[in-house]
Amino acid sequence: MLFHKALRLLSPILLLLNESVHGKVIPPRDSYDGCRAIPGDYSWPSLADWNALNKTVGGRLIATIPIGALCHRTYSSQTGDIASYDKQKCQELRDSWFLPETHLASSSSPMAYAFSNNSCNPWLDPAVSCTIGRHVVYAINALGPSDIQQGVKFAKAHKIRLVIRNTGHDYLGRSTGAHALGVWTHNMKSMELTKYQSRDYSGPAVKIGAGVHGVDAYTFANSKGLVVVGGNCPSVGIAGGYTQGGGHGPLASKYGLGADQVLEWEVVTAGGQLLTANCNQNSDLFWALRGGGPGTFGVVVSMTVKAYPDSYASTAYFSVLDNGTNTDTIYKAIGSFLTLLPNIVDAGVYALWVVNPAGFFLMPAFAPTLRKGELDKILKPTLDAMDSLKLGYQYSSSENPTFLSAYKSLTSSWNVSDYSTGGRLIPRDVAKNNKDALVKAIRHIGSKTLFSAVSFNVKNGVSSPDENAVNPYFRSSLFNVFMGVPLNYTDYNGQTGENEITNDYLPALAALTPNGGAYPNEADVNQPDFQSVFYGTHYKKLLTIKNKYDPQGVFYAKAGVGSEAWKEQVDGRLCQIKSAAS
Ligand SMILES: Cc1cc2nc3c(=O)[nH]c(=O)nc-3n(C[C@H](O)[C@H](O)[C@H](O)COP(=O)(O)OP(=O)(O)OC[C@H]3O[C@@H](n4cnc5c(N)ncnc54)[C@H](O)[C@@H]3O)c2cc1C
Ligand SMILES: *[C@@H]1O[C@H](CO)[C@@H](O)[C@H](O)[C@H]1NC(C)=O
Ligand SMILES: *[C@@H]1O[C@H](CO)[C@@H](O)[C@H](O)[C@H]1NC(C)=O
Ligand SMILES: *[C@@H]1O[C@H](CO)[C@@H](O)[C@H](O)[C@H]1NC(C)=O
Ligand SMILES: *[C@@H]1O[C@H](CO)[C@@H](O)[C@H](O)[C@H]1NC(C)=O
Ligand SMILES: *[C@@H]1O[C@H](CO)[C@@H](O)[C@H](O)[C@H]1NC(C)=O
Repeated sequence: MLFHKALRLLSPILLLLNESVHGKVIPPRDSYDGCRAIPGDYSWPSLADWNALNKTVGGRLIATIPIGALCHRTYSSQTGDIASYDKQKCQELRDSWFLPETHLASSSSPMAYAFSNNSCNPWLDPAVSCTIGRHVVYAINALGPSDIQQGVKFAKAHKIRLVIRNTGHDYLGRSTGAHALGVWTHNMKSMELTKYQSRDYSGPAVKIGAGVHGVDAYTFANSKGLVVVGGNCPSVGIAGGYTQGGGHGPLASKYGLGADQVLEWEVVTAGGQLLTANCNQNSDLFWALRGGGPGTFGVVVSMTVKAYPDSYASTAYFSVLDNGTNTDTIYKAIGSFLTLLPNIVDAGVYALWVVNPAGFFLMPAFAPTLRKGELDKILKPTLDAMDSLKLGYQYSSSENPTFLSAYKSLTSSWNVSDYSTGGRLIPRDVAKNNKDALVKAIRHIGSKTLFSAVSFNVKNGVSSPDENAVNPYFRSSLFNVFMGVPLNYTDYNGQTGENEITNDYLPALAALTPNGGAYPNEADVNQPDFQSVFYGTHYKKLLTIKNKYDPQGVFYAKAGVGSEAWKEQVDGRLCQIKSAAS
């Protein structure tokens, strides 16, 4: 112990010595004890090591070239500069940059752009070299558990950082990481209908591979006359970050969260084992993976979820445009809406609404197993309130014969990579007992930037709030706020709006929700006290499970369980924080 302490004190001097001798920083291995190796360290894998890994994964090891490299004359790779500029392809990339599809096809590009460290900005001057920044250095295009096991084994043997990437949608940048090996699950697309039989459930179920997108699972279930719970954006994964983080979507008020549906996981652990986790086997891991945060407890290979009979579904929209003179009235209407919202979600409706400088929008209310007339009736008091305020609005509703057709009637175009984001859960009692202050906070945010909310009742998704790892705070919440501050690629100042979110917008909501919660998948990566805010009273138990299955911290996810033991340095090196006692 003392020896290590002395070495740490000495290490800056050793570094200097090394630098002067070799003209390059080659730190002695011991000075980086507790850190992940980065390129240039002598413990970083050699080319021969990478080639050997490539053989064990069927030649599916990919050396990252950031997708933005097309817009730069050179990409400075580890092995030298590569000419990468292509004017026309660069323009195509810029034109499609904000579509999820642009990033989905990549093994490295995070949709939350800020987390790439602005290292290969497609709008920068082509003369500026593209660098790897915080993209993974290599990625395994995994097709099954064995590829994942090889990746875990390799990362451990060489003490390098491992990152799990599925679609790259993660708003907190958890599917990218500097100097890391990525395990890319995108091509693990299997789906299978099963009959599941367990202590708690007997009925139809769908076994879903790690790379399946929400819309693919919806489409598969539809072909069997069933539905499964997934998210709003078609290309968000289902077995990856979505369900492990909690997962809300159009069916949430009817059946609960994504995490509430899981019957079984297949998972590769930090120990390299392929385990089955369900209510009988590895039940602690089963519990943690259902809502305890993505990328933390293992690499999910597949999950098996409950499936329900398909049915008709209805949707309804309204829009109230801010014309400059009706702003106060609009916020009065929002107040009325908050009063009526519990009745709406308790009827099984999931409601997505947006407040921004352009107005107030319901877009849409989604009502599974309800007829159009039933949904109209549920929303009538809200419209009546707007009528009595003499507020102009447009309303429309419709009914579709299946869940899938109703889902497909929703917007299918989602922009990504355009906002820095933050979020907060708003409990029912705040909407009821502190409504005016809540409206004021909504106005504080919505009059300046994007304020969106999804409203649900997910109390009945579980028999008790402790049945799975989801923050119990979700169960008494009326809606989840999600906010965004736009990024400016041509005037990128490195702050990216995160400051306003962390220090202004979120505190306005936190003041009304002391000891409150946030949804870890739609939150501020810099959230103070993330342990209690994201995981609530489940944090302690989750940490115990984390330490049991991953004592060496192979899986690190920003603001994930146990992540407080690690720190990312400015150069991207991930280091364990040594306790004062060591
Ligand atoms: C446009 C958009 C719309 C969204 N809509 C919704 C919504 O309607 N409802 C909702 O709840 N959320 C929504 N989200 C948030 C979404 O749930 C998260 O971004 C989620 O993390 C995405 O998971 P992924 O696997 O697709 O993405 P990725 O970015 O690939 O992964 C996300 C996280 O999961 C981990 N991970 C991925 N695969 C695995 C695996 N096999 N095993 C272990 N860890 C894994 C990654 O390491 C990372 O930490 C939306 C996000 C976006 C960008
Ligand atoms: C891995 O091997 C395949 C097939 O031999 C090759 O095409 C690919 O470039 C290799 N990957 C790396 C990173 O060397
Ligand atoms: C991120 O960018 C900062 C500022 O340009 C730089 O100092 C740092 O080294 C970068 N980190 C990585 C991992 O690229
Ligand atoms: C703005 O909208 C309000 C109510 O919706 C209406 O009474 C008012 O006339 C409108 N003002 C203008 C300038 O259109
Ligand atoms: C999405 O991005 C495109 C640019 O690619 C832009 O034209 C469009 O307005 C954006 N849509 C939204 C809803 O932000
Ligand atoms: C981005 O910043 C530039 C330079 O300050 C400015 O001209 C441009 O309008 C900004 N773009 C957006 C979308 O705000």
